[in-house]
Amino acid sequence: MALAETLVDQEQLRADWARGYESQPEEHAGWVSAVSGAIPPELSGTLFRNGPGLLDVGGRRLHHPFDGDGLVAAFSFVDGRCFYRSRFVRTAGYLAERRAGRLLFRGVFGTQRPGGWLANALDLRLKNVANTNVVHWANRLLALWEAAEPHRLDPRTLDTYGVDRLGGLLRDGEPFAAHPHIDPFCHWDGGAPCLVTFGVKPRFDGTSVLKIYEIGPDGLARRTQELEIDGFAFLHDMAITPNYCVFFQNPLRYDPLPYLFGRQSAAQGLRSLPGQATSVLVVPRHPSLGEPRTFQAPPGFVWHHANACEEGDTLHIDSVWYDRFESFSPAGDFRALDFAQLPYGVLARTSVDLRTGATERRELGARCCEFPVLHPGRVGRDYRYVYTAAADAPEGPGILQTLWKVDVASGASEVWSPGPRCFAGEPVFVPRPRSAAVAHLTTPDVGDPIGNTGPGEDDGWLLALVYDGARHGTDLAILDARDLAAGPVATLHLDHHLPHGLHGSFSSGRFAPEDRY
Ligand code: CO
Repeated sequence: MALAETLVDQEQLRADWARGYESQPEEHAGWVSAVSGAIPPELSGTLFRNGPGLLDVGGRRLHHPFDGDGLVAAFSFVDGRCFYRSRFVRTAGYLAERRAGRLLFRGVFGTQRPGGWLANALDLRLKNVANTNVVHWANRLLALWEAAEPHRLDPRTLDTYGVDRLGGLLRDGEPFAAHPHIDPFCHWDGGAPCLVTFGVKPRFDGTSVLKIYEIGPDGLARRTQELEIDGFAFLHDMAITPNYCVFFQNPLRYDPLPYLFGRQSAAQGLRSLPGQATSVLVVPRHPSLGEPRTFQAPPGFVWHHANACEEGDTLHIDSVWYDRFESFSPAGDFRALDFAQLPYGVLARTSVDLRTGATERRELGARCCEFPVLHPGRVGRDYRYVYTAAADAPEGPGILQTLWKVDVASGASEVWSPGPRCFAGEPVFVPRPRSAAVAHLTTPDVGDPIGNTGPGEDDGWLLALVYDGARHGTDLAILDARDLAAGPVATLHLDHHLPHGLHGSFSSGRFAPEDRY
């Protein structure tokens, strides 16, 4: 009986998961009226989220959700109320396919044009789907997709202005990563915040070109670097400290031929190289700190880093590690997921001794997790708390259904589950205004807070989208980050679903319609 119940539950869970990948072709705008609990009045600003909105085009299913057109959602909080808006990024590809009513482009992650390999061979156009992240910086709202330029949006209406080359910083079609990191206190810039990001382009000669961009709050480049890397570099994320940028070049090889000949899409040529070391690339952010160096770390694969910090001559980099890179398969349907076969993401700390070159890795917890985030004031610094989306079970692979908070100093952790038929997305941490940790960072005479974990680091809210399979709708859960187990202080129930999404960020800007509040 118990076994039968478990099987039914797993079937239900798989069906719910698949339904969370139904396209959402509609766009929405309005004040959210269905709220359980109370939105904290001090919560002020806008949560921006991005992810694939269309999982089929002209009746044809996409092969992988990463190929879906970006649907940006904005939740603007004003005096205890929330204005919600969702809009597709008007990329050239989205507009062309909408006009044609059919699929016109190959996707990078598996979607092929109809007509077999002949219809796809030598079609090397990249469809920039602008679906991976969205960040508000220097008065620009940018929808990000790592293989090409960002798209600039109007933060109030989410209208698309078009591709943004950041005042000439980027060339036509230049890769620009979807994981910017904001140094809250850049000591090279007198303590001003600075956005640090990169772009990487593999070349057919087996090397890769990495560009690093540091952009000030005025939108102007503070520092840029260009490096040639040996080997194929598939870099999705990076980590920063006050003095360094850190990249993990995991052991992969790339076979472009099936892509060129139209038999597979671009990313399906990526293969894990089991047993080979991870190359840790440490790039000084300032020339006075010397040349870039590489170190050898254990094998495995990392999509996302939680944070990094410096302790004397040692760098600590906290990341979600998998035992290998899982190839993007040309076969099968991503909706028919076998939860038991899922890759197992484990939060772990890699420590690199910059003097001796020794590296070591230790786990920070056993729960399967992804999408690690932290207090924005602790980026690059010693810190206490990481928040992730995580599996329901305390160990073993599993689909992301809960939110999980880990104290990296003590190993203590806390979990919140929204329900057996719910799926949690990436959380975003928003500090409570005037909280001790914020004051610590913004008090001028404190100086650079390296090494000083501010008091009350978890004094704030955790915001996360939750897809509820029972009602085929999406909620936004707002939790007090000091007490996840207490459950949300407020839950906003949208009257529709947003497909399982990717990344987002919080801006202190209020972008609700002014005449309405
Ligand atoms: Co990512």
